[in-house]
Amino acid sequence: MATLTGEWVRSGSRLPLDIVRLTEADWRTLAEVRLRALRDSPAAFPVDCEKEQGRVPQEWRDRLADSDWVVARRETDGEIVGLAHLTAEPKPDHGPYPPAEVRYIESVWVAPSARRQGVSQRMIQALEAQARQDPQIRSLLLWVLAGNHVAWNVYQRLGFVPTRERKHRFYTSDATYVWERRMRKML
Ligand SMILES: CC(C)(COP(=O)(O)OP(=O)(O)OC[C@H]1O[C@@H](n2cnc3c(N)ncnc32)[C@H](O)[C@@H]1OP(=O)(O)O)[C@@H](O)C(=O)NCCC(=O)NCCS
Repeated sequence: MATLTGEWVRSGSRLPLDIVRLTEADWRTLAEVRLRALRDSPAAFPVDCEKEQGRVPQEWRDRLADSDWVVARRETDGEIVGLAHLTAEPKPDHGPYPPAEVRYIESVWVAPSARRQGVSQRMIQALEAQARQDPQIRSLLLWVLAGNHVAWNVYQRLGFVPTRERKHRFYTSDATYVWERRMRKML
């Protein structure tokens, strides 16, 4: 057998999962998983962790009432290993896209112990299915940190393509402005 000198990149087996859409009653779960995500991967999100920690219960409930949040629950032990968010929030930077025709994918995070097993893929597919239920929605958008190659790969693999839009966003984790790029998937 030929000797392989390249680096092994394990794709991993698919993890048995439930993808669960959270309701307002699940606000504690949202708060716990969101804060876990920010503590684990502060550099991936342009969010002030202290500000998130200071949110009151009603704010978490409001977030659940206003948009769709899913978690990935590992079947074997019930542990929540991922979080993702679909929102219509009309941002000042919605660009050339009519707000009623787009949804944003945000806050995608997978616990380190569950990575590279298709968890984010399955959460985003669930959110895409949710968006497709509204025939007005023509595309999914997201912003990704220019240097986050892993996330970039995940989104490309799911059919997102880079648009030409970029923005300089402040990341509190290291107090610098960083380039983000927009990706889009036509539905
Ligand atoms: C980015 C992140 C969400 C990916 O989640 P994940 O569940 O591990 O990703 P998946 O297993 O669904 O990967 C889907 C595909 O993306 C690509 N991919 C994922 N991780 C990769 C890696 N480390 N290296 C190269 N490609 C990778 C692969 O093509 C993979 O498919 P394959 O395993 O069949 O080859 C996870 O690494 C994470 O939480 N990172 C920290 C937070 C973050 O960066 N969030 C995104 C903010 S925009």
